[in-house]
Amino acid sequence: MHVVSIRDFSKKDIERILNVAEKMLPIARGEKTSDLLKNRIMATLFFEPSTRTRLSFESAMLRLGGRALGFADPGGTSAKKGETLADTIRMAAAYSDVIVLRHPQEGAAKLAARFSDKPIINAGDGAGQHPTQTLLDLFTIRKETGKLNKRNVALVGDLKYGRTVHSLAYALAMFDAKLTFIAPPTLQMPEEMIATVKKMGAKPELANRVEDVIGTADVIYITRIQKERFPDPSEYKKVAEIYKITTDLLEDAKKGMKIMHPLPRVKEITQEVDSTKYAAYFKQAFYGVPTRMALLKLVTEGGN
Ligand code: NCD
Repeated sequence: MHVVSIRDFSKKDIERILNVAEKMLPIARGEKTSDLLKNRIMATLFFEPSTRTRLSFESAMLRLGGRALGFADPGGTSAKKGETLADTIRMAAAYSDVIVLRHPQEGAAKLAARFSDKPIINAGDGAGQHPTQTLLDLFTIRKETGKLNKRNVALVGDLKYGRTVHSLAYALAMFDAKLTFIAPPTLQMPEEMIATVKKMGAKPELANRVEDVIGTADVIYITRIQKERFPDPSEYKKVAEIYKITTDLLEDAKKGMKIMHPLPRVKEITQEVDSTKYAAYFKQAFYGVPTRMALLKLVTEGGN
C-alpha cells in the first residue's frame, strides 16, 4: 500500500498503527533489539530540507534491523541533470523495498505512486499533506493527554501553507475533536479543508488569538510560518512573528494542556517554555520513531 494522504487510512487503521507503535517503544528507545525488517531496504528521497522526518525514519528502519539509503539533498542527484521525478522513482523502486519521499511539489507523492511498484510514503509534498507526521501527532495526543477522542485542539499559525495541519485537521475530525483554527486571515485553513472537516461532523471555529483558547484547549498545536512557500517575501515579513507562546501566556492554561509543534520552531515558542510541564514537542518528535516503525512494518508486510 502507498501512504500518500491521511485519507488513505480509516479510523481503525490509525488505531491499529498507534497500538503497534506503543509496542515499538522499547525498541525505539534502544532498550530492546529487533530484526523485524531484516534484509529490507528503505530509500529516503528528500528534495526538501528535513531533520526529524528523515532521521526518525532512518532510526526506525535501523532499529528494526533493516537498512537505509538515499539522499538529503537533490543537488547531488540526476535531478540536477534534468531527470524527471518519475524516472528517479522507478530507480529507487528497483533498489529498495519502500520509498520515503519529500518533495516541494504538491501532489508529488501521488505521482510517484503511479510509477512505483514499491510502497511510497509521503514525507511531505509542498503545502499538501504530511500523513506520517499526523500519525505521530495523534500518538502524542493519546499518550500525553491520556486519550485521543473528543479533544479540544487549537491549530495555530500558518494553516494555509502548513502541510502538517492539513493532514492533522482531517484526522482530528475523524476522532471527533473540537477544533479551533487560529491564524491571521491571510493564513487561515483553506476553504476546502474547512468544508471537508465540516462534512465529517466537526464544527471548527476560526479565531486569531491564542488567548481565546488558552483556558479551554487540551492541545495547542502551533506551527512555523512557512517562509519558503510565500510568493512574496514582504507578505512573509508581515506575519513572521505573529504568534508567540510564552510562560506568561501559560499562566492561564488549562490543567494538563500540552503544547505541540511539528518543529522546527523559529520564534513561535520561547525557550523558557521548554522546561514547563506544558511542552510536549520534543517528546512528540521522538514519537516519530515508534510510529514510523509501525508504519514501515505495515507497508512492507503488504497488508494490515
Ligand atoms: C514540518 C514539515 O516539514 O512540514 N516539519 C516536520 O516534518 N516535522 C513542519 C515545518 O517545516 O514547519
